[in-house]
Amino acid sequence: MFHYFDHNATTPVCKEVLEALPELAKAWGNPSSIHWGGRQPKNILRDARKAVAEAVGAGSPLEIVFTSGGSEANNTVIKGLFDYYQTAQFLTPEQRLRTHYMCSAVEHPAVIKAMEHIQALGARVDFIPVNRRGEIDLDFYQAHLSEETALVSVMFANNETGTLFPIKQMAEMAHKKGALFHTDAVQGFGKVPVNLQDLGVDFASFSGHKFYSIKGSGFLYSRKGSNFSSLINGGGQERHRRGGTENTLGIGCLGVVAKRVGLIAEKAEALAKLRDHMEARILSEIPDVTVTAGETPRLPNTSSLVVKGADGETMLMSLDIKGYAVSTGAACSSGNPEPSPVLLAMGLSREEAQNSLRISLGWETTAEEVNGFIEALKVVVARLRSLNNNEGDSCHV
Ligand SMILES: Cc1ncc(COP(=O)(O)O)c(C=O)c1O
Repeated sequence: MFHYFDHNATTPVCKEVLEALPELAKAWGNPSSIHWGGRQPKNILRDARKAVAEAVGAGSPLEIVFTSGGSEANNTVIKGLFDYYQTAQFLTPEQRLRTHYMCSAVEHPAVIKAMEHIQALGARVDFIPVNRRGEIDLDFYQAHLSEETALVSVMFANNETGTLFPIKQMAEMAHKKGALFHTDAVQGFGKVPVNLQDLGVDFASFSGHKFYSIKGSGFLYSRKGSNFSSLINGGGQERHRRGGTENTLGIGCLGVVAKRVGLIAEKAEALAKLRDHMEARILSEIPDVTVTAGETPRLPNTSSLVVKGADGETMLMSLDIKGYAVSTGAACSSGNPEPSPVLLAMGLSREEAQNSLRISLGWETTAEEVNGFIEALKVVVARLRSLNNNEGDSCHV
């Protein structure tokens, strides 16, 4: 029996999407065609754009730019804004001075690496520190924000620990200096309600496969009037903001899941209960375990544990044999023996980061599965610790 506890890496495709796929696939025309072949795919795009705009509280469907996912949306904003400020003809003298960028030290690599990319091209970039509880350093942020800041990018929720960031407050602070604000909301979409107008951000990134849809589809919210250069040059699709014939299948599926957002609040409450029950049992039944950022506001489904004396990668493999899928950190860095940069940036030691396990629950996770997982984890941790102790003994012989 297989049990999936890795919903921050990706989510299973929901029944509604699976049912919609065959019809969507039959709309094979090019949405840019003016003849009959373009009508059905064009309608799919229009309906999906409206549905996702409503789902995330955008002001208008025209503020949605469909992308291949979260990574592309993040790269588009950061590189696209840098390029725009370098090359656009009609900039104010004040805009031309904006060469400073900021992001948190615990962003997904799609933000960190895009920032490093523009840094190499001449941008000044500051990485805002976070503390051990996963809280962002607002004093550092305030001190470094200036009239030269072009863009601040801070994630809505961290993919490894689930910590939530004060986006509304940080966006307001950026706006006071005339800077634009982007949030990578990939981990928020589908886990907790997200309302962009309430948050007051200028840009936000989303990914379908983190919300029970198929891979290769996502979108960028770009508030009306927020300009950037297109990352992908090509045809005039997406109002010249993203070249390339649209992925009508993926976009249609985004429209399907967007219509399920009404369920999020209720699911979030159930998930928080299940996650809290799981953490309470683990903490009381397995000694020397801590929950990273356990006291900080977090996504309701995520738990990042440090299990003293048990290597994360070995726990993962032992649990996998028992049918439980978990993670040691970001899925994209699995197979990488280096400890998670996010956990290190929070101030965990290398050993603590190496002994970390990420458990992320989903809409279909049951209490029976969670209880079964705890029993499996107890066995795995006890075995690893006894092996370590025995190895330790032999060293002293
Ligand atoms: C916070 C965050 N941003 C961006 C991404 C990348 O999204 P995608 O896989 O759609 O490119 C991920 C995926 O793990 C993520 O967790």
